[in-house]
Amino acid sequence: MDINIALLPGDGIGPEIIAEATKVLDRTAAKFGHRIRYTEALVGAAAIDATGNPYPDTTHCICREADAVLFGAIGDPKYDNNPKAKVRPEQGLLRMRKALGLFANLRPVTVYEPLVDRSPLKADVVRGTDFICVRELTSGIYFGRQGRDRHDTRAYDTCTYTIDEIEQVLRVAFRLAGTRRRHLTVVDKANVLETSRMWRETAQRTACEYPDVTVDFMFVDNAAMQIIRRPTDFDVIVTENMFGDILSDEASEITGSIGMGPSSSLGDGTRGLYEPIHGSAPDIAGQDIINPIACILSAAMMFRYSFHLAAEADAIESAVDKALADGWRTADIAKPGETVVGTRKMGQVIRDNI
Ligand code: IPM
Ligand code: MG
Repeated sequence: MDINIALLPGDGIGPEIIAEATKVLDRTAAKFGHRIRYTEALVGAAAIDATGNPYPDTTHCICREADAVLFGAIGDPKYDNNPKAKVRPEQGLLRMRKALGLFANLRPVTVYEPLVDRSPLKADVVRGTDFICVRELTSGIYFGRQGRDRHDTRAYDTCTYTIDEIEQVLRVAFRLAGTRRRHLTVVDKANVLETSRMWRETAQRTACEYPDVTVDFMFVDNAAMQIIRRPTDFDVIVTENMFGDILSDEASEITGSIGMGPSSSLGDGTRGLYEPIHGSAPDIAGQDIINPIACILSAAMMFRYSFHLAAEADAIESAVDKALADGWRTADIAKPGETVVGTRKMGQVIRDNI
């Protein structure tokens, strides 16, 4: 298969992890007889510095023409502490999600047996955890009307959802649950919010079309608690944009390190965007210490979801499993006394396992 990938390294540690992920992709492609072509483009602070725009039109064109987008990270401290900054790297990410129509964000939470005691939770609680959080990504409070009144004494952000927006992401979650343990948890705040009541009604209606999937409903505050209390009970969670942002960060801690978490963002077509869930970590950029596994596993998700190449995805995931089982550790997943390797070495070990 000929595969055309838009490569968006972005800021901070982005370029380092993208370098390892592409080498793993190349190895996998060589093994299975695919040809991958990469087109690199600017995004985030790197793009602001070069063009003044965190998601330039040329980047959008490159993404639209690609079969999939592999994305590193976005964010730079020079914008974080400046609430008055007119353009921010994060705007690039939000614009990109919207412009590419990526309404469903899949964030798997998998506990790896060799890392079971790296979790801040008890090994017995987290062992066997394997669920996916499906976060709505292009609507809700992130994209509602926001602003300040003319006296600059009141600010507002509004959360809006249409039935269509809810239904399209619910369908992704129902289908995904159908390929897994057939259990879907819809997370909302229907005891308070009108948008949540619409989510719940829509989910109840849509559920009739997926009779093989068991659905339950949970308020978001309770979900935040249950996720760390009994994480193995979950299979697929679906929720609105901001709840999903918060719950997925919380859930990533269950695995022991945010450096292990991949993600994919999908829309109507097959062209998805794949990125690690961690940020740009500017404080440790360029030091060869970041864990490349989240980005490498994102590349595996790309094979699985954009190209329906499950054997290729399995090969990458098994290569990661083997590296961990063999005791290879980057700093974020090492216990005191364990030998620590850098980004490049971890990438090479995984590559050699393919
Ligand atoms: C994420 C991030 C982004 C979000 C930020 C950087 C805008 O936290 O992808 O989870 O809130 O969506
Ligand atoms: Mg987030």
